[in-house]
Amino acid sequence: MAQNFALNVNGRVHTVDADPDMPLLYALRDDIGLNNPHFGCGLAQCGACTVHLDGQAIRSCITPVSAVGNAKIVTLAGLGTPEKPHPLQTAYAQEQVPQCGYCINGWIMTAAAFLRDKKKPTDAEIKTALEGLKCRCGTHMGIMRAVRRAAEMMG
Ligand code: FES
Ligand code: FES
Repeated sequence: MAQNFALNVNGRVHTVDADPDMPLLYALRDDIGLNNPHFGCGLAQCGACTVHLDGQAIRSCITPVSAVGNAKIVTLAGLGTPEKPHPLQTAYAQEQVPQCGYCINGWIMTAAAFLRDKKKPTDAEIKTALEGLKCRCGTHMGIMRAVRRAAEMMG
């Protein structure tokens, strides 16, 4: 049976009427209108749907809306602004990473959570942090350059 859930997304509270088992991804895209988290596999296998939940990168396609509680959700739209982009957003633009762009949400949101806690990561540490994410356009070399560049910007 549907219930009301108050979701704190990018600093604003949105009330969503949903079945408790409904994936958070559907609430973000269909009810709140945020289209950065993408539906890729729906099975936690690609990362396209990644958002931050209290700073941790999680896959919103398998996170029931009822599991969120009071946690703060941040999506790619809340990571930075056009005036003040996150270093990863700047680095992705400078390195001209995206091709079709479908996967980019997952890579940036996962890397953002990683770089917040890890200063000056090695290439091996970056690769481990990004394991399991998929890009069908083969932008992996560009992604590595952008994450390295963002890490440098973040000191
Ligand atoms: S859509 Fe969530 S991991 Fe693929
Ligand atoms: S840029 Fe197309 S899937 Fe990654």
